[in-house]
Amino acid sequence: MDNMKWNEKLKTGVAILDKQHKDYLSLCEKAYKAANSKSSGLSAALKAANKAAAQHFKTEEEMMGMVFYPELQGHKNLHDKFLKMEEAIAKEAELGADSKKLADKIKEELFDWFVLHIEKNDLKLAKILKLNNIK
Ligand SMILES: [Fe+2]
Ligand SMILES: [Fe+2]
Repeated sequence: MDNMKWNEKLKTGVAILDKQHKDYLSLCEKAYKAANSKSSGLSAALKAANKAAAQHFKTEEEMMGMVFYPELQGHKNLHDKFLKMEEAIAKEAELGADSKKLADKIKEELFDWFVLHIEKNDLKLAKILKLNNIK
């Protein structure tokens, strides 16, 4: 299995964001494992991940507002798109989709997306937050 963990390269240096990123990725790993083992806990794991992502995005968007981040709208659009994707996967799980397919989606469309989003978007935002003394 691929390594599905937070790593130092993803560190933003903004404590609340790093905590939320770690928590989300570990919920994602949990959902992935549940899908792979065909566990009945999959739907619950996906729901928990959904909730954590929505809460996290809200935190980031509030912070963006606080510093008048010029890319707020574009960044928020990425979050919204992701939440829709996540909801769609949760729905598929509830409807009993093939668990191998679900595991692949969780890995590629949730976990990998989220990691890439941190690297490409959140790290950039964190730089501005830190310049504004938000750590
Ligand atoms: Fe984030
Ligand atoms: Fe973000």
